[in-house]
Amino acid sequence: MEIFIDSADISEIRKWLEMGIVDGVTTNPSVMLKDGMYDVPKGAREIAGLIGGRPLSVEVTTNDLAEMLSQAREFATWASNIVVKIPQTTPDGVPCYGVMKQLETEGIRVNATAAMSLGQVIPSAKTGATYISVFAGRVADEGGDASAVIRTSAEWLGRWVYRSKLVVGSIRSVGDVLSAAMAGAHVVTIPPQFLGKMVDHKYTRETVRQFVGDAEKALAMMQQVAAGG
Ligand code: E4P
Repeated sequence: MEIFIDSADISEIRKWLEMGIVDGVTTNPSVMLKDGMYDVPKGAREIAGLIGGRPLSVEVTTNDLAEMLSQAREFATWASNIVVKIPQTTPDGVPCYGVMKQLETEGIRVNATAAMSLGQVIPSAKTGATYISVFAGRVADEGGDASAVIRTSAEWLGRWVYRSKLVVGSIRSVGDVLSAAMAGAHVVTIPPQFLGKMVDHKYTRETVRQFVGDAEKALAMMQQVAAGG
């Protein structure tokens, strides 16, 4: 399973990247705004360069299908590792699958985003989208069973050998990350604060404290013996 970082915070991306656990980055306009990345072209180029060949998802900011195509073509010129996020539908419910298909045909990788159901994952896969993002937290917000959506989507993609990778986003807790992992997500995109919580454990800290303390005691004993004491 791959781990993406769901952030536009350069220092957080760099920190987790240097540890070797980040396979890509996702953003959306709300994440960009929250992390103070107001100049999107400049910021996206910076992140894309920082993460090498790993994918960086950047979302279109229009509800017009023709404008989505032209924005996506522009985003793709920023760096070769840009993946363009296209929503399942516009706010008026107009399906955006034709845009996804056209972009993948042109060689521009698509992240079919804001999916809440298997019924949206299936057409996204048929467009050839490289990634399909299921929003676990938002599914659960409405009382839906996010694990069931992830599990059935992953099974369906595998059964029919679609190439799309299932990304689980909208993570609200470490538990969401683990549930997505066990439900068969190919990728989980994690906000940095949950990555920090996920890797920490008070008993690990205590164990390491004990080992280092005992190593220091052993060193002191050795020095005492060597000094003839
Ligand atoms: C990731 O690709 C999504 O854009 C993001 O995880 C959405 O999270 P939210 O539902 O907390 O806004």
